[in-house]
Amino acid sequence: MLLSSASRALAAAKPRSPEPFAAAATAVLLRRQLAAGMAAAPASSASAAGNREAFRVAVTNTLERRLFYVPSFKIYGGVAGLYDYGPPGCAVKANVLAFWRQHFVLEEGMLEVDCPCVTPEVVLKASGHVDKFTDLMVKDEKTGTCYRADHLLKDFCKDKLEKDNTLSPEKTAEFNHVLAVLDDLSAEQLGAKIKEYGIVAPDTKNPLSDPYPFNLMFQTSIGPSGLSPGYMRPETAQGIFVNFKDLYYYNGNKLPFAAAQIGQAFRNEISPRQGLLRVREFTLAEIEHFVDPEDKSHPKFRDVSDLEFLMFPREQQLTGKSAMKLNIGQAVSEGTVNNETLGYFIGRVYLFLTQLGIDKDRLRFRQHLPNEMAHYAADCWDAEIECSFGWIECVGIADRSAYDLRAHSDKSGVALEAHEKFAEPREVEKLVITPSKKELGLAFKGNQRMVLEALEAMSETEALNMKSALESKGEVEFKVCTLGKDVTIKKSMVSINMEKKKEHQRKFTPSVIEPSFGIGRIIYCLFEHCFYQRPGKAEDEQLNVFGFPPLVAPIKCTVFPLVKIEKFEVVAKKISKALTAAGISHIIDMTGNTIGKRYARTDEIGVPLAITVDNTTSVTVRDRDSKDQIRVEVDEVASVVKEVTDGQSTWADIMWRYPAHTASAAEEEEASET
Ligand code: ATP
Ligand code: GLY
Repeated sequence: MLLSSASRALAAAKPRSPEPFAAAATAVLLRRQLAAGMAAAPASSASAAGNREAFRVAVTNTLERRLFYVPSFKIYGGVAGLYDYGPPGCAVKANVLAFWRQHFVLEEGMLEVDCPCVTPEVVLKASGHVDKFTDLMVKDEKTGTCYRADHLLKDFCKDKLEKDNTLSPEKTAEFNHVLAVLDDLSAEQLGAKIKEYGIVAPDTKNPLSDPYPFNLMFQTSIGPSGLSPGYMRPETAQGIFVNFKDLYYYNGNKLPFAAAQIGQAFRNEISPRQGLLRVREFTLAEIEHFVDPEDKSHPKFRDVSDLEFLMFPREQQLTGKSAMKLNIGQAVSEGTVNNETLGYFIGRVYLFLTQLGIDKDRLRFRQHLPNEMAHYAADCWDAEIECSFGWIECVGIADRSAYDLRAHSDKSGVALEAHEKFAEPREVEKLVITPSKKELGLAFKGNQRMVLEALEAMSETEALNMKSALESKGEVEFKVCTLGKDVTIKKSMVSINMEKKKEHQRKFTPSVIEPSFGIGRIIYCLFEHCFYQRPGKAEDEQLNVFGFPPLVAPIKCTVFPLVKIEKFEVVAKKISKALTAAGISHIIDMTGNTIGKRYARTDEIGVPLAITVDNTTSVTVRDRDSKDQIRVEVDEVASVVKEVTDGQSTWADIMWRYPAHTASAAEEEEASET
C-alpha cells in the first residue's frame, strides 16, 4: 500500500526476469504444463506467449464452467473488475482464509479486528490516500475510454520485444530500459514516450490525451446531509492503526504484538484486466506487527532461519541477474533483508503459500528497488508468484517504520506511542531550552508567542549552534516560519543548557512491519499451479484436473454407488452420514452416469478422494492424481478419508495399509468411458 502510482504498477512492469517461463518448473509441473499445451520455451518467443495463452484459456474456461467464479451481474452484461465466487470458489476461498487464520492469527497469537469498509475522509487524509493514491490515466480523445498510461507503454515495449524480430540491439536495450524505469516516469515523461512511440488507443486507434493522475478510491458520503465525505477503504490497514492505543492496552502495554484483519478493499482501477488479478473489490488479509524500532529481533526467528527459497535482492535486479536460492537466516545476518522480524515474516509467508499448493519453484521474494519504496520504508519484499500473466505480486511485506502511527497521531492529536519502563532510572543528558517570556514580550509584543514556540521547537543541533553564537556575539538572527521573517534573538531572551535528568521510561512510536495478502491473486495463481490435463478415452480428448492439496480442495470426497441399486444407495447414505459427523465436506452422486464420467466431473473440481460403493461391506477409495484405488471396510472409510484430508497422512502413507483394488475388466471399461 505504498502511495504513489510508481509503486502501484503490477509486478510484470518491474525489471523483467531473464528466466524462461517454465525453466524452474518441477518435473510434475512440467508434465502438467506440457499436457496443457504449454511448452518450456523462452518468455521472449511468440510461441511461448501462445502456449501461455492456451493454458490460461483451458484453466479459465474450466473455472467459469464449473462456477469457481463468474463475472458479476452477468445477465446485465457484467462490470469490468467485479467477480462473483460460485460454490467451489467460495469453498476454496474459505479454506484459504481458514488456513491463514490458523497459520498467522492462531499460531502467532495475533489480535484480530474487523473494521468498517466505509471510512471518513479525515482518516484517509491523514494516511495520505486522499492526496496520493493515484495512477496516471490517459483518455481516448474521441470516445473518452480510459487507460492506465504506464500499462499502455509497458504493453507496447513488451510487444516489441516479444514479437519484432527486426529490432536493433540499441532499440532492444531502449525498450528494456523503459520497462526498468517505468515506475519512475513522471506524467510528463510518460506522455512524451507515448507520443514518441506513436501509441494510440488500443481499441479504436484514436489519439490519446496527456496522462493525468486519477485517485483510485470510491468516494461516498456518510449520512443523509452529504456534508460528511467518506471513502470505501482501499486497504484494511488503517482500521488497525487508528485502534493502536486500545490494542496496545489490550495487550498489556507490551510490544511486540501484531493485529490482523481480513476484509474487503475497494480500488476503482482504471482499466481492470487479467481476471481475478486486478479487480475493483477484493479481499485483503493484512497483518500489522508493531515492534520497538531499536529492537527488531524476533523470538521465533530460529524456526524459519534454515529455510531456503528463491529470493531476488535489489542487487541482482540492478545487475541484470536472476533470482537465486538463498537461506533466509543468512540473508538477514548479511543484511540483505533489513531485520529479523521482516525475515521471519518472509519465511512464514513462504511456508503459508507452499503449504497451500503454490509451486515453490514459481514463487520468489523480490526486494523493492529504491525507486519503488516510499521514503519512510526501511525495506520491502513482495512475494511474487509466476503464472501465465508473468510474475505477479501477491503478498507485499514491508517495514513501514513509524510512518502510519505518526501520521494518525499528528492528525488526531491522540498519542499513538509505546513506552518502555526502565528497571532502574537512567541518567540522561537533555537539552533544555528556556525562553524568557518577559524579554520576548518586551521585544516582540504581539508576536511573542510565535517566537517562543519557534525557539522551543528547535532541534538539538540548531539550539547548540544558537547557544555558541549567543555566547560569542551576544545576538543572532533567527527565522520564525510562522512570521515569515527573521528576528534578532539576544542572549537575555533564552537560556540553552544541557542538563542531567533521571528518566524512568522511554516513550517512542513503534515501527510497523506489514504483510499484506491479496487473497484473490493467491487463489488465481493456486488455480493455475494446480491445474493439469490428462488424456481421456477419445482421441485428442483432454480431461481437466485441479490437483488441489486436501487443505484447499473445495470438497474433500465424493461418494457414489457403482450402479443405481437400492442396497448400494443405502450404504452410500450411511457413509455420507459418517462423513458429515466427521466434518468432511462431500457430495453424494446418485446419478446413473457411468463411473468414469462421475470421476471426471469430480476431478475437474479437484476432489481428492472418491468412494465407490460396489459392495455392502467394503468399498473402494480412489486417489484423484494417481487414480490408484484401495479397498476399505464401510465402517472404517470415513476415518480413513479424514486422516488424508486433515493432512495427518498422505495417500502414499495409507495405501500400503489396505489391499489395492484392481478394477475388473468391466469396471475399467466403464471407468475410461467419459
Ligand atoms: P499493484 O502494484 O499490483 O497495483 P499494489 O502495490 O498497489 O499492487 P498493495 O497496495 O501493496 O498493492 O496491496 C496489497 C496486495 O493487495 C497486493 O500484494 C495484491 O495482492 C493485492 N491487490 C492490490 N490491488 C489489487 C487489485 N486491484 N485486485 C486484486 N488484488 C489486488
Ligand atoms: N471402484 C470402481 C472403479 O473405479 O472402477
